[in-house]
Amino acid sequence: MKTVNIGIIGFGTVGAGVAETILNNGKLIADRTGFMPVLKRVADLDITTDRGVVLPEGVLTTSSMEILDDPDIHIVVELIGGTTIAREFILRALQCGKSVVTANKALLATHGEELFRVASEHGCDIGFEASVGGGIPCIKALREGLVGNHIKTVLGILNGTCNYILTRMENEHADFADVLSAAQAAGYAEADPALDVDGIDTAHKAAVLASLAFGQWFQAKDVHVQGIRSVTVNDIDYAAEMGYRIKLLAIIKEINNRIELGVQPALVPANSLIGNVNGVFNAVWVQGDIVGNTMYYGRGAGRQATASAVIADIVDIGFNLLRNCTQRLPAFKTYKQYDGLMAS
Ligand code: HSE
Repeated sequence: MKTVNIGIIGFGTVGAGVAETILNNGKLIADRTGFMPVLKRVADLDITTDRGVVLPEGVLTTSSMEILDDPDIHIVVELIGGTTIAREFILRALQCGKSVVTANKALLATHGEELFRVASEHGCDIGFEASVGGGIPCIKALREGLVGNHIKTVLGILNGTCNYILTRMENEHADFADVLSAAQAAGYAEADPALDVDGIDTAHKAAVLASLAFGQWFQAKDVHVQGIRSVTVNDIDYAAEMGYRIKLLAIIKEINNRIELGVQPALVPANSLIGNVNGVFNAVWVQGDIVGNTMYYGRGAGRQATASAVIADIVDIGFNLLRNCTQRLPAFKTYKQYDGLMAS
């Protein structure tokens, strides 16, 4: 049986979920793919906190360099987040010829162009399914399933924490701060939950989806952002009286050859599909010129959902490595010139 060796940098909520899945479902993955994913190293500065998964002896280390410098590790999984050290680790991994899997939407929405250029220069791949939509394979849908379409519109509920908060505010008239604490305790929220509730996390994800949809790089700074802090239970009640729900929506559109990128709390009909995406669930609605309307739905945050997406990337890259085809199609390639962004 062939093996693909994996090093995970970051043993937090998602890192622990990925490690657990490789250990528990490795045989299933091997049966389906013909190769065994092997968890070679997991690095984190904190190796004493109980993460609810027991790693084999010798796997856990405080040194990320033991992963980056290990020639036997084929795929580096970056799960530390942020845009500084994570960038350095990923660049180093790529320069060492290792492919990378990351859930780091902030990094992609800031340095994506650079990371993909370096990956291309070194014949490596970057998998980022877990960066948007948690466990929903929406990156694969946009990049592969809808590859023959000009994308006109993408609408998304892309932040599980905000959707969880808005849902509980509606259902229970719950206090914003209490509900946010529950989302943090469930492992949905970012380390800095302001990124969630101020819409910035959704803007990062919107930039990634827009880049895929329109074939050119967008950054979070291109997205007009309004979060959910100012939404009150009264607003939610008034919306309900009129037959609407309030959802934090990412709005990505091509209008007259210009691109509109926005994140804002929006009224959606309570009887619509997107109006019934509740709790930590996310949805991505995509309109293509050939396929028409499609929608992707699932758990948008949390340990196992995100781990599921990371594993999908590991398998894709593992297949390519074993066939000496280390790079998939470039994720971003300009195929149409747009006339810039719509003024916000
Ligand atoms: N904090 C993010 C969310 C995690 O709540 O959606 C998943 O990206």
